[in-house]
Amino acid sequence: MILIKLGGSIITNKSRKTSPRKKAIDAIAKTLAGIREPIILVHGGGSYGHYWSVKYDMHTKPEKYDIEGVAKVKNSMVELNKIILDALQKNANHPYCVQPACFMNTDKPMRNKIKEIGEISKTGMIPVTYGDALWHGKKTYILSGDSIMGHVAKVLRPRLCIFAMNVDGLLNSPNGELIREYSQQVPTMPGSDKDVTGGMMRKVKEAKRISQYGIRVFFVNGNKPDRITKAIKDSKFHGTIFRGKRRV
Ligand code: IPE
Repeated sequence: MILIKLGGSIITNKSRKTSPRKKAIDAIAKTLAGIREPIILVHGGGSYGHYWSVKYDMHTKPEKYDIEGVAKVKNSMVELNKIILDALQKNANHPYCVQPACFMNTDKPMRNKIKEIGEISKTGMIPVTYGDALWHGKKTYILSGDSIMGHVAKVLRPRLCIFAMNVDGLLNSPNGELIREYSQQVPTMPGSDKDVTGGMMRKVKEAKRISQYGIRVFFVNGNKPDRITKAIKDSKFHGTIFRGKRRV
């Protein structure tokens, strides 16, 4: 089983409101159709949910956020999710949409529902879920796609996890060189703190957490879908690897 996150920056133009990158989405969908192993897909919000969460100052911390913002985030994520589902189906995949509220009880993942997602993936369908604004007892919060990766990996222990992004992987600051293998020190990424759901730092944190379950994690450039295939086949991989080191 393979768990893949399509970052908002690869499936949308982050700088322009509600602007999908249809060619990139299509190319990834085509690649996924060639993978003969159960896949679970998570996607980010980019210029859809992410855009609105910034606009309405909504964060991962539960608060009484503006209900207009909550509605905008949720509606836009359904819209983006539909674009992903349609592209998957058009390219001979069988997506199975799972709204995050189906497996989250406030901020607690529901183990039995996540197990169900694993069962669905074994049929050949691709469960697809996404970052969203979620209810948290009179408050709401932003659940990022990266956090979903951690929750799902913890329960299902996939063979590997892939984060597809708009850059080659984790880049060294300030020279922009690719870090091929992550080792202890978290580099400081310029601008990463501007992201409501944590940008690259959150991905690194989640990748580290997942690797501690003994699972390999890859950061790859989603503009080159063959790099996703190479990560899966473990051949001439180009990107950043977090080696699985079991601690929990
Ligand atoms: C987006 O999830 C959550 C929302 C703001 C709806 P992510 O934080 O995983 O999204 P990207 O990948 O960074 O766009």
